[in-house]
Amino acid sequence: MREIGIGLLGFGTVGAGVVEGLQRNAGVIADRLGVQPVLRRIADIDLETDRGVKVEPGILTTDAASVIAQDDVDVVVELIGGTGAARELVLAALEAGKPVVTANKALLAEHGAEVFGLAVSKNTEIRFSASVGGGIPVIRALREGLIANHIESIYGILNGTCNYILTRMENDGLSFDDALAEAQSAGYAEADPALDIDGVDTAHKAAILASLAHGFSVPMDAIYIEGVRGLSELDIRYALDLGYRIKLLAVIVKGENDVEVRVHPALVPLNHMLASVSGVFNAVMLRGDLTGETLYYGRGAGRDPTASTVIGDIADLARTFQADCKLGFLPAGEAGPGRGVRDMNEVETRYYLRLSLLDKPGVLAQITTILGREGVSLASVLQKEGRSGDHVPVIAVTHRALERSVNAALAEIDELDIVDAKTVRLRIEG
Ligand code: HSE
Repeated sequence: MREIGIGLLGFGTVGAGVVEGLQRNAGVIADRLGVQPVLRRIADIDLETDRGVKVEPGILTTDAASVIAQDDVDVVVELIGGTGAARELVLAALEAGKPVVTANKALLAEHGAEVFGLAVSKNTEIRFSASVGGGIPVIRALREGLIANHIESIYGILNGTCNYILTRMENDGLSFDDALAEAQSAGYAEADPALDIDGVDTAHKAAILASLAHGFSVPMDAIYIEGVRGLSELDIRYALDLGYRIKLLAVIVKGENDVEVRVHPALVPLNHMLASVSGVFNAVMLRGDLTGETLYYGRGAGRDPTASTVIGDIADLARTFQADCKLGFLPAGEAGPGRGVRDMNEVETRYYLRLSLLDKPGVLAQITTILGREGVSLASVLQKEGRSGDHVPVIAVTHRALERSVNAALAEIDELDIVDAKTVRLRIEG
């Protein structure tokens, strides 16, 4: 049987999962595809740490470049992460004409144009299914099953760490810090957890999905990003009272002339499918013009689910070796008419506002006057029990309004003497 030689760069959590997955299931791939994946070399700067999986010591090296250069390495699997050494090694592998499998969302989101451009110019492949959604093959759905569709909208819960934190805060009253510590010890969080909680990891994944769905390279600096850091349990509770659950969402919506790409916490109605996605699970709700709504759900982080998707990419490449064909379809196009990212100011959605107001006559009138002047219409207003000094929390839910108008109104409202603290503003989706 024909063999496909694999060179693995990065023997961390997911790398070890790939090695174990191949040891356990390479035979299944061989049976199904008629090509045998064989792990030839593993490179890592740290060869001392026990990875919990047995490999022949002879295949380990600290010299990643030598793995790429090795003649019997047909496919380079990059699981180092980050945009430093990983970028150089991925570029070196593509330059050498070797196909690459990577789970590196930061690399693709920040250097996608360079990486995909090189793959195209070298007529080789880069597969990146595990970069979004861990064990959920949503990238594959976009590249393959949904290829006949215009993608009208994508709503994603794409960060297991944040979803875990929100779930534990809501269900078990955990503090933000304790929930984060749990997610870290379970191996879900990024090496720098700020990437998770500040929404950057979700934005990396949104950039990749948006680029694939809309055929142009979506730059990170065009994406509006707000994370879950500092989110208060008060808002989680008030949102529930109103019939919503707070989720960190990636929102990608096709407009007539552009595409909205944004990441922020959002109130999702409790009866919406995304509201029931809890813990480390991720989900992507994707609407195509032919297929209508589709939903992808599964473990978005963790060793084995991510390894499953990485090995799936290796199997895909094995198929191209077998059939001597290319799978292609990379998000390497340029922005152009109908292919730009919408300015966040021009986004229109509904808003949840938590105001901290002095409890005396005429106060609400001042607020509604300002909102009304900016064209922001209220759907409901609720004064909650509980005070801080003379101030009380007032929850307002708006009809659809422009981000620009809400920003202008809040800038004015937060300067009023009757307002005690910066107004909490969350968007409502679904
Ligand atoms: N830190 C990421 C998460 C890992 O929590 O979802 C998977 O990309």
